[in-house]
Amino acid sequence: MTTFYVTTPIYYPNDVPHLGHAYTTIAADVLARWNKLKGKQVFFLTGTDEHGKKIENAASAEGKHPKEFVDNLIPKFKDAWQRLDLEYDHFIRTTDVDHEKIVKQVLQKVYDKGDIYLGEYEGYYCTACEAYYTEKDLENGNCPVHKKSAEKLKEKSYFFKLSKYQDKLLELYKKNPEFICPANRRQEIINRVKEGLKDFSISRTSFDWGIKLPFDEKHICYVWFDALLNYYSATKLKGKTKFWPADLHIIGKDILWFHTVYWPAMLMSAGIKLPKTIFAHGWWTVQSQKMGKSAGNAIKINHLIRIAGVDSARYFLLRETPFGQDGDFSEEALIERHNSELADKLGNLISRVTTLAEKYGIKKPNKNHLIDKLKFEEIEKYLDNYELDKAINLIFEFIDVCNEYVQSKKPWETKNKEVLYELVHSIQAISFLLWPFIPETCEKIASLIGFEIKSYKNITKPITAKKIKKSDILFQKIK
Ligand code: MSP
Repeated sequence: MTTFYVTTPIYYPNDVPHLGHAYTTIAADVLARWNKLKGKQVFFLTGTDEHGKKIENAASAEGKHPKEFVDNLIPKFKDAWQRLDLEYDHFIRTTDVDHEKIVKQVLQKVYDKGDIYLGEYEGYYCTACEAYYTEKDLENGNCPVHKKSAEKLKEKSYFFKLSKYQDKLLELYKKNPEFICPANRRQEIINRVKEGLKDFSISRTSFDWGIKLPFDEKHICYVWFDALLNYYSATKLKGKTKFWPADLHIIGKDILWFHTVYWPAMLMSAGIKLPKTIFAHGWWTVQSQKMGKSAGNAIKINHLIRIAGVDSARYFLLRETPFGQDGDFSEEALIERHNSELADKLGNLISRVTTLAEKYGIKKPNKNHLIDKLKFEEIEKYLDNYELDKAINLIFEFIDVCNEYVQSKKPWETKNKEVLYELVHSIQAISFLLWPFIPETCEKIASLIGFEIKSYKNITKPITAKKIKKSDILFQKIK
């Protein structure tokens, strides 16, 4: 059986998760579900990035030990993911003993290979990014991302020989164009790598919340070196080895460099196979402002769900903006899509058809013309290429076709059981295809019509139920 391994970034548990974190995790859930439908064995990994100065600072602000601090936040992440119907297979924490063991093994391997050496780091550090900056990178002394002053550092540090991998990385991007997606991000990275790569510091000595280097315990492993390895260490768990290398790392565009430059170079050095694709999605803003804790405009998960329900939130985030591009979030836009697409188009179709089918029954016609209008192969291609918004567009085009069919055939007058069969049959196909996006709704529809959403081979299977049950209102309109 073919496998599909998809990951999200592991989030910093320095606060509760927000819409930005939910977005990546929903996209991963959609692709995990889609690949399950296709009959693949899926491993969907998410988790938390718990070491480093950022977490240590957040904990000390509350007078807590970092471990105690993160232990309190993890249930909030798990609870949010459950509320959003995110069916991950494993939740990794970088404080897990199994993970720490693998990080040490890889560090030792890379050290033995001669790719790690002791030096002195002199430069700047932004704790909010957990990233090193040169003076040239800063904007008026501030970190270019967080606009906060970066800390000047001068300390003994171990370095990873990234410079050694410049040509190998360029060759990787050339030979495997799907390694960095979408395509516009690829060129950005290639151009920067061509400018030259500097070795990067992989240890700190000025604090101790992290994994000790196995060859020098006075040094704490740089949080990104530790964190990136989560994707690999999770596949060392029982029964998971078959999933490496990962098929897809979904990340935000902000952390593309770490994933497409540091990560493959680390793996090359350790002699580990490389993941297939790193897909960077865009950023959500609120009134064009970057969303975040410090800006005070982060949309919390409970709030997101309260606006129009879980499925509407999931649907909106993936429909509103092409996957890969930035989007601006507003409650009005979410409510508009909830009302005009989920309630008026999908909800209305289901409600009219199931009511009439319950009343008049259905009968299999000799030829089903309606389902032939579903552009199934194109939708499949879009989903396989991670073009999620395009897939939804085509599914909704077909919902429009079905609604027009109801209007033109007037089954409420004709009581034509064959027309109703065609419509119920099309609704079955729609439910399969929308299930990765809005699972709760699609499972409700499946139970009314009497089918199970399992293998995509059954998308157009004949309807076997004798009796169709009429649906309640699936999406209540919001004023
Ligand atoms: N811990 C690192 C990732 C390590 S992965 C080996 C990290 N964590 S984070 O908590 O800051 O979350 C990062 C991810 O959250 C981003 O890459 C992105 O996927 C998501 N988002 C956070 N805010 C976001 C938006 N406003 N919009 C979209 N996604 C955003 O970086």
